[in-house]
Amino acid sequence: MNIHPLLARRTQGLRPSQIRKLNPLMRMPGMISLGGGYPNAETFALTSMEVVFKSGRKFQLRDGSMDLACQYGPTDAHADLKPHIIQWHAAKDGVELKGEQIQVLNGAQEGLHTMAYLFLDEGDGVALSEPAYPGAMAAFSAFTQRFIPIPLDAQGMITAELEGLLSKRKAAGESLPKFIYDVPNGNNPAGVSLSLERRRHLLQLASKYDLLILEDDPYQLIQLEDLDPLPTLQSLDLEERVVRLDSFSKIFAPGLRLGYASGTAEIIRYFQLYKQGSNLHTSAMDQALLAGFLASHSHEEFRALIRENCKIYRRNRDAVLAAARRRLPADIRYNVPSAGMFLWFEMPERFDAGRMMEMDGLDLGVILLPGSSFSTTGGLKNYMRASFSMISPEQVEEGMMRFARMIERERERTAG
Ligand SMILES: Cc1ncc(COP(=O)(O)O)c(C=O)c1O
Repeated sequence: MNIHPLLARRTQGLRPSQIRKLNPLMRMPGMISLGGGYPNAETFALTSMEVVFKSGRKFQLRDGSMDLACQYGPTDAHADLKPHIIQWHAAKDGVELKGEQIQVLNGAQEGLHTMAYLFLDEGDGVALSEPAYPGAMAAFSAFTQRFIPIPLDAQGMITAELEGLLSKRKAAGESLPKFIYDVPNGNNPAGVSLSLERRRHLLQLASKYDLLILEDDPYQLIQLEDLDPLPTLQSLDLEERVVRLDSFSKIFAPGLRLGYASGTAEIIRYFQLYKQGSNLHTSAMDQALLAGFLASHSHEEFRALIRENCKIYRRNRDAVLAAARRRLPADIRYNVPSAGMFLWFEMPERFDAGRMMEMDGLDLGVILLPGSSFSTTGGLKNYMRASFSMISPEQVEEGMMRFARMIERERERTAG
């Protein structure tokens, strides 16, 4: 596909950094480099480090590996990490990426921002589900305010609605969105996953209307029914329209800020050009730790660890669902998420979740997130998001009782 008509005006001006281009050359054996302005490794304040992974296996950084972890590195990825990412991605998704199709990021969040930077001019549209992840809205709204909300149901984004909207816009000669953003597994906040049929339909629509898709998939492996995730949009894409964001936040550790974008070499090159000017590269130390983990744990071991962690989330989900069944009135509706960390409560239409939290949250000692935080239009006032990731089993019953009390108070306020 020709992405040039979709690029933002600012992106046309991105130029490669001459200094960054030299980075791989400077590391060639035998090279005498007077080129880079890097600090001398002898001056670094750290000499060695040992981390112990949950498996009990140890990983040490010292001498050359420590120098590499402390020094400036290449923009695309730490050299030790990239081959692991290629293998991990192939094993996980069945998609063989070439080196130039990967950009390591400071978490998927950086990918959301970068995508917006590269493609969105003021006034450009982005199609996304309603509700949507507020971090994506924040990243996009720095560049454009024009969101095209598409409702979702238990099967994820209602792609038939998207189709209706795109065909209407096209017939009316109105501009089309630059890309479609979706979280296909364990949607934050709605908890739903995009069905296989709709994944295919989304790709057909992207093809028909010549659009990109931004697949943001941090909950892909947070599967709560012990099933394999559905094929990724990227793996079903025959026209290279998908830019995919993978995150290690929910499967490794979020504080390390590790994720990666994958897509065509052309788009990833733009990611790199932008990163050269924004933060040079993702922390080499963090990347070295992940590389050390992937070198000392097989994919099966990593997947087994993730599956163990999913049991914690499943236990929490089931406890919250059971307490919700016992404690909440019948007119409060919610889904049973098969992936991710979220329950999405729909309350009677006259309810205002923002007011409920403001008036009663502190008093009753319970926090849920009001639906309007997830709306592109200031709607969804009668929805609440509950995250079950961190709740302890002892807190669940009391938490739902407090939520039920909050609901009663709102019912009294809005009665008549
Ligand atoms: C849907 C979605 N995308 C992206 C992110 C950010 O992930 P990362 O920690 O990889 O930046 C989150 C974090 O909660 C999320 O829920």
